[in-house]
Amino acid sequence: MIKVGVLGATGAVGQRFIQLLSKHPWFEITDLLASSRSAGKKYRDATRWLIETPLPENLQEMEVKLAEPISLKNSDVEILFSAIPADIAKNTEVEFAEAGFTVASNAAAHRMDADVPLVIPEVNRDHLGLIEVQRRKKGWDGCIITNPNCSTIVMTLTLKPLMQFGIKHLNVATMQAISGAGYTGLPAMAILDNVVPYIGKEEEKMESEPLKILGEFDGDSVKTANFTISASCHRVPVIDGHTEAIWIEFGEQPSVDDVKLAFRDFKREIDTPTSPAIPIQLMKEDDRPQPRLDRDLGDGMTVSVGRVRSDVHGIKYIAMGHNTIRGAVGASVLNAEVLVKEKV
Ligand SMILES: NC(=O)c1ccc[n+]([C@@H]2O[C@H](COP(=O)([O-])OP(=O)(O)OC[C@H]3O[C@@H](n4cnc5c(N)ncnc54)[C@H](OP(=O)(O)O)[C@@H]3O)[C@@H](O)[C@H]2O)c1
Repeated sequence: MIKVGVLGATGAVGQRFIQLLSKHPWFEITDLLASSRSAGKKYRDATRWLIETPLPENLQEMEVKLAEPISLKNSDVEILFSAIPADIAKNTEVEFAEAGFTVASNAAAHRMDADVPLVIPEVNRDHLGLIEVQRRKKGWDGCIITNPNCSTIVMTLTLKPLMQFGIKHLNVATMQAISGAGYTGLPAMAILDNVVPYIGKEEEKMESEPLKILGEFDGDSVKTANFTISASCHRVPVIDGHTEAIWIEFGEQPSVDDVKLAFRDFKREIDTPTSPAIPIQLMKEDDRPQPRLDRDLGDGMTVSVGRVRSDVHGIKYIAMGHNTIRGAVGASVLNAEVLVKEKV
């Protein structure tokens, strides 16, 4: 078993990491790290457990450590899954990478750094080559690898099979679940019976991250994809599952059937414990996908698409995926599995 730790283990995403990793066939959690508010406490006392499955017994008594490399001085940890706030991640993740750890991060801090891979394994596994560039340029033994923002992952996975038609421009309107804001993110009074048409920094991420992910890696750097994105992001009273309405203009206008076939033909090229057998599920019913009915497809790792239609400018459809699994922890764990499998 490969020993792993969780940075930000007490938070909403950190708990999902613990849920997924505690049953993982390759990884064993040996260290839990968080802020000085939690350090020194037993995990069960430091966290307010919010997950539907019980807190694993073997972790209840584990002492939470302060998130700094010295805390892992006597530890065999190789991979750290990071779920700390982006402003803290900026320095903390670098310190751990410098100290020789592989950091698989959910935080936004380093996603757009030129030498940090921003990866969805089904889309741009070849960008893992940036790790060698990163180690060479930074002189680190460890590394930082990132997964995209939760709404970016859902959309970008569905764009990959459509790149063959030459995307020129796309518009996207998101309907994002409240779990994406973390436990303390949004008071119930603000979101019940309501829609909030603003999510801080989300539109900027939706408009930039897909272009890096869908860009070309030439062995040294990534040349970003050459199309434009306009995003409008909204919070809706759904617990888990981001729904996205997407309108695309193409260079070569495909038919609705071409697009459906491209989704159906999209096969996984990797076989690891967290990779879903079907990355993109095309729904047959007119009123799907829906978060409550479809977010757990492929153990939360499948993105479902439906309502593929043509319009005056091109094609429009709906995509939906589990934001804390496919959009966060499942994405990081899948990235780490691919690193292990490909011995990066
Ligand atoms: N929620 C999502 O769906 C989602 C999706 C993708 C990415 N993300 C990203 O994942 C990260 C965590 O999000 P979240 O929703 O889990 O937030 P959260 O519930 O607020 O949890 C934050 C975690 O970070 C720790 N932390 C805070 N300040 C720290 C410090 N100075 N040093 C070390 N640890 C510190 C906290 O520890 P204490 O308990 O000790 O304070 C806690 O474990 C963020 O970067 C977020 O943008 C979230």
